[in-house]
Amino acid sequence: MCGIVGYTGSDPAVPVLLDGLERLEYRGYDSAGVAVVSPDKDLQIQKCKGRLNVLRRRLESQPPLEGTVGIGHTRWATHGEPNDVNSHPHVSQNGRIAVVHNGIIENYAEIKEFLQHKGVHFRSDTDSEVVAQLLEYCFADAVDPLDAVYAVLERLEGAYALGILCADRPDMLIAARKDAPLLLGYGDGESFIASDATAIIAHTRDVAYMADGEVAVLTRAGIQVFDEYRRPVEKEHHLIQWDVAAAEKGGYAHFMFKEIMEQPEALRQTISPRLRDGVLCFEELSLPEEKLRAFDRIYLVACGSSYHVGMVGKYNLERFLRLPVEVCLASEFRYSAPLVDQRSLVIVISQSGETLDSMAALREARRRGGYILSIVNVVGSSIARESDDVLYTWAGPEIAVATTKAYSTQLVLLTMFGLWMADKLGRADPADYAAVTAELALLPGKLETVLAATDLYQYLGSQYFNRDCIFYIGRNLDYALGLEGSLKLKEISYIHSESYAAGELKHGTISLIEPGTLVVALATYGPLFDKAVSNIVEVKSRGAQVVAVTTESRLAQMEKIADHTIPIPDTHPALQPNLGVVPLQLFAYYVALQRGCDIDKPKNLAKSVTVE
Ligand code: F6R
Repeated sequence: MCGIVGYTGSDPAVPVLLDGLERLEYRGYDSAGVAVVSPDKDLQIQKCKGRLNVLRRRLESQPPLEGTVGIGHTRWATHGEPNDVNSHPHVSQNGRIAVVHNGIIENYAEIKEFLQHKGVHFRSDTDSEVVAQLLEYCFADAVDPLDAVYAVLERLEGAYALGILCADRPDMLIAARKDAPLLLGYGDGESFIASDATAIIAHTRDVAYMADGEVAVLTRAGIQVFDEYRRPVEKEHHLIQWDVAAAEKGGYAHFMFKEIMEQPEALRQTISPRLRDGVLCFEELSLPEEKLRAFDRIYLVACGSSYHVGMVGKYNLERFLRLPVEVCLASEFRYSAPLVDQRSLVIVISQSGETLDSMAALREARRRGGYILSIVNVVGSSIARESDDVLYTWAGPEIAVATTKAYSTQLVLLTMFGLWMADKLGRADPADYAAVTAELALLPGKLETVLAATDLYQYLGSQYFNRDCIFYIGRNLDYALGLEGSLKLKEISYIHSESYAAGELKHGTISLIEPGTLVVALATYGPLFDKAVSNIVEVKSRGAQVVAVTTESRLAQMEKIADHTIPIPDTHPALQPNLGVVPLQLFAYYVALQRGCDIDKPKNLAKSVTVE
């Protein structure tokens, strides 16, 4: 979704802003812009539809924008089509105030009408422009710019992260936040705002996360933060642990490929602090033991791939815990009057920690008395901060829109948590516990073996990249895995794809199988291998071509049936999806590569979905 970066210091602002925006590109956008205030109080703007290189070319074709304080924005259109006028920054009628905004101002129509009656002319179709125009209106009565900002915030309904420049205050940048991410960066003689740390990591690792209702005033001398009642706030500083290289391609053609390859290391980061001498430990949890014992059901709530993690989690957690586990799409959960109460454990799964639907679901669950545990990758994100407990995946920054290493680390972490909880409740089968923990230690190494077979995935991609439709089938954990494989393919290659529970085919879907239809069959779940074979035979006998993913121990059997086989090492069934997902990620990658798709930034998609 949209990205914000802001700078005040002694260097020219535009290069810092453009560099920051480039690092935020992965969030998804369709237009971009910058604004700076020059020392002689002149507000200068450049913005346009399209990628950042279009903006760069525009900037190069004119005299440089002078100024050491500025704001930049990448816009992902919601209100108003992507065009130059609707791009941010938006400027007030007198040209003295510029604003960048992420989120949605829900009462914008009402404010717009009010201002239009006062004679204000609007240029864009956006909700965001009302913030700039209302600021100008409130400035008329204000002595201090902060008075105007507080007066405006009082009238706004909805979600916002704001960066504000006033031409009359060339030393100052103002930021405000409610329900949309924004962080502050503390440099040496310079200060920053950004939607996420990747934008400013090249300048500082010293950050603070703004909370809802806070307003920050940034100058090169430092940052002052105030709460919603304008009382000064002492912010807790955080040191970003990863370095700038983690957010760069490092010689790989695509972030997605790099992140797929990083999975063994990411899994080590997730597993090793929580596995000591074969014993699972979750010391980071504050969850009291009596509370743990009192839970009578678990909800797994998430969107997209994180929801698919929940699908795998349901099978594993129910098996370990013998408790009912419900997997819910966050966007549905929030409006479904869920039966959450004080005895419910609600696990919210999110890479970004900023997904609005997941955030809203979290708040709904809290309102109903549920205990909120989140599984999150981005440290300090909103979901992490609003949860009762948080488990970080420690996967490092994920830049490609299509998630890979975050999915894998969420998956293993949820499985580990489920087994840990079963053990605490005395419900874990000791043999199972020993087998899973032994396999956890081996998992990163086995993943390396799967990654070593890139030639095979590349070959399959070259054989099947021109299909219009590809099916995924599987049973139990393999069904959950197929959902993720199918989503990966759809997202980045734009091939239509569906994933079905293999046993369900004969209840209707098998009518879609024709001679030559490609079916990716997942047969990695040992207990139901024979059933999966029957389903493969069913589609084969209707002419389907089958690419089967199976374990090494069953490869010989599968080779007799499928057109192509992809072997993966055997592990404990609960962990098998962690190995099975990798060929699916790489198959999707190579198919998309052959089709010439923009793999890291698929059309219409955004990395962090902060609108409903
Ligand atoms: C798919 C993908 C999305 C996200 C979904 C939730 O590759 O990345 O489906 O999984 O938008 O995002 P988070 O996990 O950040 O809440």
